[in-house]
Amino acid sequence: MKYQAIKLVRRPVGDITSDIFERVELETPALKDGEFLVRQTHMSLDPAMRTWLQDNEDSYIEPVRPGDIMRAYGIGDVVESRNPAYPEGARVVGVTGWAEYTLGGEDMQVVDRSVDIGALMSVLYVPGLTAYVGLIKVGRPVSGETMVVTGAAGSVGSLVGQMGKAEGLRVIGVAGSEEKCRWLEEELGFDKALNYKDPDLGEQLAAATPDGIDLYFENTGGPIQKLAFDRMNRLGRMVVCGNIAEYNNDVPTPGPSWVDINLKALRVEGFVITDHYDKAEESTLAMMGYLQKGQIKFRSHVLTGLDSAIEGVQLLFSGQNQGKLYVEL
Ligand SMILES: NC(=O)c1ccc[n+]([C@@H]2O[C@H](COP(=O)([O-])OP(=O)(O)OC[C@H]3O[C@@H](n4cnc5c(N)ncnc54)[C@H](OP(=O)(O)O)[C@@H]3O)[C@@H](O)[C@H]2O)c1
Repeated sequence: MKYQAIKLVRRPVGDITSDIFERVELETPALKDGEFLVRQTHMSLDPAMRTWLQDNEDSYIEPVRPGDIMRAYGIGDVVESRNPAYPEGARVVGVTGWAEYTLGGEDMQVVDRSVDIGALMSVLYVPGLTAYVGLIKVGRPVSGETMVVTGAAGSVGSLVGQMGKAEGLRVIGVAGSEEKCRWLEEELGFDKALNYKDPDLGEQLAAATPDGIDLYFENTGGPIQKLAFDRMNRLGRMVVCGNIAEYNNDVPTPGPSWVDINLKALRVEGFVITDHYDKAEESTLAMMGYLQKGQIKFRSHVLTGLDSAIEGVQLLFSGQNQGKLYVEL
């Protein structure tokens, strides 16, 4: 059977542009024992895609190389199988690619068909695992603390902020538009939301954190990073989840001095979810709990058709996505 896929032709310089990809038509393979074929139905678009395109062999994951099908996380249906663990008709999530069909891998998880796709994509799968591991395992929040989360209106940030509220934190969100800030305060119950594009961001951050910051959840980098670093309390934690403001730059902005990390006994800790797949079940249960108690709301930004990924991935970098960005195939 013929199917459409999108390959990387060359690495981007700066922004991702449509000319770095090409559409190709491929033929589904004949299956060997142990293999199964997945028809992808929903494909996640993630800021990490920009880092996968870098020629960086030291990263947590192999780079996508020119000639490869672009990597993605996705949801799909098993349409043919020679593996009893993944029977025909099962719904799976896992690493797919920018393609209508993909050979399934043993790292794919079978998921219950009754789970709503929007909730699966926007809360239970990658964003939920990221928020859960980052906030609960790495950040270790304590009720009464003040947390600042950047990328707060995005898929990970909006979950982290709401989970923080559920765990008894005072939560300040940082986002890039008035609409997003209103959504955070009025719909999601953040204590305060700041627009990082405002010229007096430093003053606004100081006013919003009169008792300093105990927990900083970093999704973006950019100018807010130093401002937040300077307001960290002794024994504070800085959870480094992502740095989207840096992904298109060849040379990253220098980080803060280690002096305050030492004198304030700060813990600055990065993490990537590929090291935490063993916590997927625990995370799903926890996220379902927040959902069922009405402690988490989400919004999804859904594009249509495989080709929409080429231009669509840029929405993440211009801030035009409203909630979890994914493609329905
Ligand atoms: N560690 C992990 O394993 C892991 C897993 C998943 C995601 N992440 C990271 O988590 C972060 C959020 O990912 P997501 O999937 O939830 O994406 P998202 O927040 O839904 O979308 C990205 C958002 O980043 C903001 N942004 C873009 N350029 C920016 C800039 N220069 N400065 C400040 N903000 C900027 C935009 O919102 P505004 O309108 O507010 O600017 C945009 O909507 C990313 O850095 C990602 O790489 C890490």
